[in-house]
Amino acid sequence: MIEHAKGGSGKYKNHVIYIFIILITLGGLYYYYDLSNKRQTTIDNNKQSILELRNNLEEMNRKYIEMVSQIEMSEKDKLFLINNLNDVMQNYGIKVNEVNELSKAVHIDAELLKKYSKYYFLNENYTPSSTVTINHIYTLLGKEMSILTEVRPRLESMLEAARVDGINLVVNSAYRSFEEQQKLKSIYIKTYGLSKSNQFSADQGYSEHQLGTTIDVDDGKSGLVISFEKTDAFSWMQNNAYKYGFIMSYNKGNDYYEYEPWHYRYVGVELATYLHNNNLNFYDLDQNYIDTYKTKIFD
Ligand code: DAL
Ligand code: ZN
Repeated sequence: MIEHAKGGSGKYKNHVIYIFIILITLGGLYYYYDLSNKRQTTIDNNKQSILELRNNLEEMNRKYIEMVSQIEMSEKDKLFLINNLNDVMQNYGIKVNEVNELSKAVHIDAELLKKYSKYYFLNENYTPSSTVTINHIYTLLGKEMSILTEVRPRLESMLEAARVDGINLVVNSAYRSFEEQQKLKSIYIKTYGLSKSNQFSADQGYSEHQLGTTIDVDDGKSGLVISFEKTDAFSWMQNNAYKYGFIMSYNKGNDYYEYEPWHYRYVGVELATYLHNNNLNFYDLDQNYIDTYKTKIFD
């Protein structure tokens, strides 16, 4: 009896502890949710205030010029006053641009332009902010594959442009979660051994595919093999991918993996164009320099 009673009180204690843990977790989640909401609201309010301020300043500017032109004073003095105001408006414009850039920087995921390949670990809990399915007409055998939401229209425009040019380009692989990469890598290790697999497959947490911005493409026939570089689809990618913001990550002789003529990563049109025009590779650039393109990645 006594033991039974003790057991009952023990259970009761356990329930209290569980409820306590649940409450703390819920409190934590709410705190996090509330914080993200507040941050978003602050950004939206700031944008609204800037817009109102701009309208007020433009209205004031019009009135000021009207007043100055009515006041009795020399043309030289009038010009001086108007030029002064123009300077103020110009500085204001610069400030607005700075705020817009800052606001963009807050919204854009800093991971998207990081170097990964054996360099930098992408947390196992990292998932892209939002992914969408790629239109099945562009994927190998119509398989279900997803990509970062902002990248999808750029990817599909590129694949469509290739088709218009008579080139068949299909996506062979796209977003892969940490767990998917882990499964894939363990299959490769079983098949080829660790050392060989490390030459062509990233460990989980080090793959650009986990970002949601990366694709493997082929011509629907070749598969992911070096001879893909002999196809028209490869030449088309070499000449056009940068126009849509994509670059080939692992060029011949790179320091990380075997040459992968099929593996492309989205870095934004501006950075991709810079790399293309200067015959450079993404992994040759300094991370600090790459980061200067962060706010332009979806321009
Ligand atoms: N094949 C590339 C290196 C990857 O696994 O991400
Ligand atoms: Zn790949």
